[in-house]
Amino acid sequence: MAEFYEWLREGCRRRELGAPKDVPEKMLQNVSEDGALSGRCDNVLAEEKMQIAKSQLSLEPMGSVLGARVHGLDLSKPYGDDVKRELREAFAHHLVLCVPGQDLSYDDQVRFASVFGKADEKQISKDEKGEGKSRERGVMYVTNIRENGKQVGSLPDGEMQFHSDGSHRDIPYRATSLWAMQVPSRGGETKFANLYAAYDALPESTKLRIEGKQCKFIYQVDATFREQTREDDPTLSNAVHPLVKVHPDTGRKSLYLSRLMTRYIIGMDRAESEALLADLFDHAEKPEFVYAHPWKPKDIVIWDNRCTNHARNDFPADELRQLRRITVSEPGDTSASSAGY
Ligand code: OGA
Ligand code: MN
Repeated sequence: MAEFYEWLREGCRRRELGAPKDVPEKMLQNVSEDGALSGRCDNVLAEEKMQIAKSQLSLEPMGSVLGARVHGLDLSKPYGDDVKRELREAFAHHLVLCVPGQDLSYDDQVRFASVFGKADEKQISKDEKGEGKSRERGVMYVTNIRENGKQVGSLPDGEMQFHSDGSHRDIPYRATSLWAMQVPSRGGETKFANLYAAYDALPESTKLRIEGKQCKFIYQVDATFREQTREDDPTLSNAVHPLVKVHPDTGRKSLYLSRLMTRYIIGMDRAESEALLADLFDHAEKPEFVYAHPWKPKDIVIWDNRCTNHARNDFPADELRQLRRITVSEPGDTSASSAGY
């Protein structure tokens, strides 16, 4: 319970609302008997909704465990610091935001992504001979469109397992944005899992067992299933991260792992690691932690890679799907290979 009050106070402080004088009884509905906090705190959100209403933005929850649709915003027009602050607050609480019906140029999407951190935009780089050469960094099309049988984008077809973008890099992407250009008539939903809620719901014994553990993450470009990654290939992008990750903005713990990219728990017997990870993957993918987003053209969606996983449902191979993707890096991340998965 003490932890909950701390969380609430911290949240209020960060949102510059001032610490609550007393915590209304209704807020305690989010706390179970053993003091655990539910994945999302709706009455705190109601309070926030009132704040946001002042500036014409309104939030409509999308799923029961994460996600909000933002209304009252045209991202092709200028918007000020108040709106940006509100978007960041909404992002911290809902983890995934969708602004529907947006006519977005590439620059508009960069501007939107920049609200949340350092947008990975197109850059000019020099080639080896020192001649100027334009290179697209950051922008990527997730699409199954093919020209002369060759794929023109990334992650073209079908189902994709749960992962978070950049968890195979030392500094993962803070966020990823996708703008829907063409979507299939059925399937192709992006599923988002709330990793705070997955952590909170673990039995105490498991929380103790995984505290302080670290995992190896490995990713092979364009792999959509775990089995496609060659673990013994040292050229594949890989990194080590804590299994219980504390979010730098909210201070909350999440279960940071994914079926697609997490290979093993460091320092644990391999068979034990496999068995534990198999259970944890299943746990983190339980329907109660997941919202599946049914795309509509012109949706712009942004998600927090530090506390959510995402996956994709299968869709008909003969229907086109195209989304423009711009990632958001940590402001201090100057690594050259910022464009990626
Ligand atoms: C991605 C991704 C899923 C999708 O762009 O990182 O995982 O639904 N996309 O296409
Ligand atoms: Mn992804």
